Amino acid sequence: MSGFSISWLDLREGADFTARDKTLATQALEWLGQTNDHISPDRIIVDLGAGTGSTLRALTKLGANNIVWRLVDLDGKLLDEALRRHGKQCLIEDYQADLTITEELPLTGAHIISASALFDLASTTFIDALINRIDARKTAVYAALNYDGTTTWFPAHSLDEKVLAAFNQDQLRDKGFGPALGPQCTDYLQQVLENKGYSVSIKASPWELGAKDEAMTSELISGIAGAVSEGYGLTPQEVDEWKHFRLAHAADGHCTIGHWDLLALPG
Ligand SMILES: C[S@@+](CC[C@H](N)C(=O)[O-])C[C@H]1O[C@@H](n2cnc3c(N)ncnc32)[C@H](O)[C@@H]1O
Repeated sequence: MSGFSISWLDLREGADFTARDKTLATQALEWLGQTNDHISPDRIIVDLGAGTGSTLRALTKLGANNIVWRLVDLDGKLLDEALRRHGKQCLIEDYQADLTITEELPLTGAHIISASALFDLASTTFIDALINRIDARKTAVYAALNYDGTTTWFPAHSLDEKVLAAFNQDQLRDKGFGPALGPQCTDYLQQVLENKGYSVSIKASPWELGAKDEAMTSELISGIAGAVSEGYGLTPQEVDEWKHFRLAHAADGHCTIGHWDLLALPG
């Protein structure tokens, strides 16, 4: 178990797909020789922290076909769900493994290493070890939907800035990989990949959450309030006030949460 529930991953998937930068995703498929009018077989995508298969679904919607999907996750229940949903239509190899044991990751033959909403949980040590294992002449890296530290709420509340500063501090907490990079992860990945000779492109992929996302926004607000409730200088009254105001506007308000997508192609 990793702490990411199927229901939360399902709740965010629509916003994730809308936010995902389609130009980079399509470039990744083109690099594989995967467009709707030209399909090359036997391409391997290793999706790290795959969850229930969100990257598989997103890239399949955008034209991916004949891919061997090697899904890696610590949480066996999420992998079982991915297999239940797609095992009969897609070639899936599922690996229940701890990503931090990088030397044992099943990367052999990978054309793309992908990950969605993963690297902001990770540390410099993990990224260094992972990228050192990847063959920079043959394997592309596609890292989508990593939080960039920006959040804008409408209507505004006087505690928004204080809560965001606390939340961004919490993003640096160890999530099992060592001290997390949080909002710095895309910059760090870009630097490490460019040093290895990759050609790196980055595009913004913000969540734009409005009325139709009320359930997701409400979960998010509760999650943020929980994360900042201790250790970051907010009083319990401030956290409560902010949470109640935000929940009261989850249906009629709007929220923009910044993310980055990154595609690194062998140079
Ligand atoms: C935010 S979720 C994203 C899941 C999926 N990529 C998506 O976009 O829906 C992070 C995923 O990373 C997995 N994960 C976290 N730490 C891990 C670790 N040390 N080893 C393997 N998987 C891990 C979790 O189980 C979870 O599925």
